[in-house]
Amino acid sequence: MAAFIDAVELRKTYRVGNVEVPALRGVSFSIQRGEFVSIVGPSGSGKSTLFYLLGGLTRADSGRVIVDGDDFAQLSDAERTAMRRRKIGFVFQKFNLLPTLDARSNIGIAQDIAGRKNGDQAHFSRIVDLLGLKERLHHRPSELSGGEQQRVALARALINKPALVLADEPTGNLDSRNSDIVLAMLRQSNRELGQTVMMITHNPEAASYADRIIHMRDGQIVAPEQDPQWKGPCDWQH
Ligand SMILES: Nc1ncnc2c1ncn2[C@@H]1O[C@H](COP(=O)(O)OP(=O)(O)O)[C@@H](O)[C@H]1O
Ligand SMILES: [Mg+2]
Repeated sequence: MAAFIDAVELRKTYRVGNVEVPALRGVSFSIQRGEFVSIVGPSGSGKSTLFYLLGGLTRADSGRVIVDGDDFAQLSDAERTAMRRRKIGFVFQKFNLLPTLDARSNIGIAQDIAGRKNGDQAHFSRIVDLLGLKERLHHRPSELSGGEQQRVALARALINKPALVLADEPTGNLDSRNSDIVLAMLRQSNRELGQTVMMITHNPEAASYADRIIHMRDGQIVAPEQDPQWKGPCDWQH
């Protein structure tokens, strides 16, 4: 059976003026449907660049990304956008909520955009309950704590039951209580709905929620022992 995600020899170099900054230098891996994979590695190792490519938010210079049978390079921009809305939930370190909308609308807008105007109300209530947001639905982002904002952002990412959840440092700005809520929700959603989750994190404890950890360094995938900052459970030195 084909993998759910196939990344093949991905390369990406940013150009700033005359300076070339290589971000990905040939990255290949597969993720099976329903796997929860964590990507770890030092700052600047190319994790966010990989996140954007897997989400179809930017294009690689070369290489291929295939998600659930769709090869991004063969989709038009419109098809890629439609695919993203249908199949992928995004969570960012900085929440990225719409400042003028309350929590309910920030979550609901994802249903509207996906064309599910009267989307699954039972699922909405359940997610809002599990994330402890019931009493916060009429608050705007500026009236919410960082942890609450990220819980709203996670609700938005999960509301359409996406087959794939991509999270870039989702607990990077959170205290431990909120981190636990976010990680437990990702885990539960992964288990119950068979969602594939790819989560970037700096935190070994967060990474330990995953079934598998991929280590990156200098734009490449490396073995755990080549990741000098890694003090996680898989590190052979510890
Ligand atoms: N938009 C950009 N323009 C220029 N260089 C960038 C841009 N985004 C990232 N980079 C560079 O690419 C490399 C990888 O960055 P990134 O993918 O953000 O790594 P990470 O998420 O692991 O910190 C870094 O050297 C970074 O400075
Ligand atoms: Mg990053």
